[in-house]
Amino acid sequence: MNDPTTSAPRFDGRHVFVAGGSSGINLAIAEGFASAGAHVAILSRDPVKLENALARLQALGSQGAAYSADVRDYDAVAAAIAQSHAQLGPIDVLISGAAGNFAAAARDMSANAFRAVVDIDLIGSFHVLRAGYEVLRKPGAVVINISAPQAFRAAAMQAHVCAAKAGVDMLTRVLAMEWGEEGIRVNSIAPGPIADTEGMARLAPGPEITAKVSASVPLQRLGDKSEIARAACWLASPAAGFITGTVMVVDGGWSLAGYGAVMSELSDYISKRRD
Ligand code: HXC
Ligand code: NAP
Repeated sequence: MNDPTTSAPRFDGRHVFVAGGSSGINLAIAEGFASAGAHVAILSRDPVKLENALARLQALGSQGAAYSADVRDYDAVAAAIAQSHAQLGPIDVLISGAAGNFAAAARDMSANAFRAVVDIDLIGSFHVLRAGYEVLRKPGAVVINISAPQAFRAAAMQAHVCAAKAGVDMLTRVLAMEWGEEGIRVNSIAPGPIADTEGMARLAPGPEITAKVSASVPLQRLGDKSEIARAACWLASPAAGFITGTVMVVDGGWSLAGYGAVMSELSDYISKRRD
């Protein structure tokens, strides 16, 4: 694929499939691979977002495609992946990053609210990985699940996300074991708070809370989407050829000391807004 000693890996002509790739962190990842020469296919729900994202990827030279599907619908995901395979051949890098989030205390969540996030993040990831497995390049494929620090650090207002992302990371470990013998590497990336994303807009609504989140990061700033894209490209490259079953935390140290205080403040903020 490329020389492991170079600092910027290349993916010329490779097939990269990004579930949830139409916006935010996942789109930045898709753009990172497209800039490195890959043909990138993306899947998410909103056709307008998909069209705009596809145009951005094509401007970088990608000859991939965009598929409108809900990751909760296995058949729709499998159909999109089969089409992508027909167009671009076996998948070299499969990224599962579709996710939903809102801040709510467990006592304020209906069963359906909890289920919605688990269905998208965890069951949806299984759908993407299970359907993708059929057309992964074997040996040599790389799978990356987009997780979050909530997977291993409890956070108030995040019962649904904590449970779902913990499940995603365990899927990473189990599939790394099962698929290792076929030469497939499976890892997670857990981004910390990343600027200009839907996730942060939902969890840090407004400049005051955003500033508090920034101050709670040991590196004293939010991350940039490009920093997650670079981590994904490195993790998919031969430089990371012996790494599988891990969670690569890219969070400026945010999760080291726990971020409970910030989440509690968010909890107060949401409660006040509700009263
Ligand atoms: C309580 C809520 C709620 C809220 C929705 N619900 N918002 N409950 N508080 N703020 C409830 C609804 O009332 C409903 O329950 C149930 O959740 C499902 O809602 P729907 O709107 O019917 O579901 P759906 O259309 O499937 O949308 C799923 C969604 C939505 C997750 C609710 O927000 C979405 O599609 N999000 C995708 C984009 C996104 O969230 N991006 C951020 C990812 S960031 P009832 O009982 O009424 O039927 C991320 C991690 C960030 O994942 C980490 C940062 C560090
Ligand atoms: P985002 O822009 O909302 O990205 C979510 C993507 O998933 C969008 O393309 C969205 O498009 C798609 N999606 C959502 N529900 C879907 C469904 N049911 N079926 C198919 N596609 C669906 O949010 P983001 O903040 O950049 O988050 C991206 C990833 O990073 C997520 O996995 C998130 O958990 C993780 N993360 C984010 C942060 C952060 O600081 N933002 C921190 C840690 C982890 P549609 O809505 O059009 O379907």
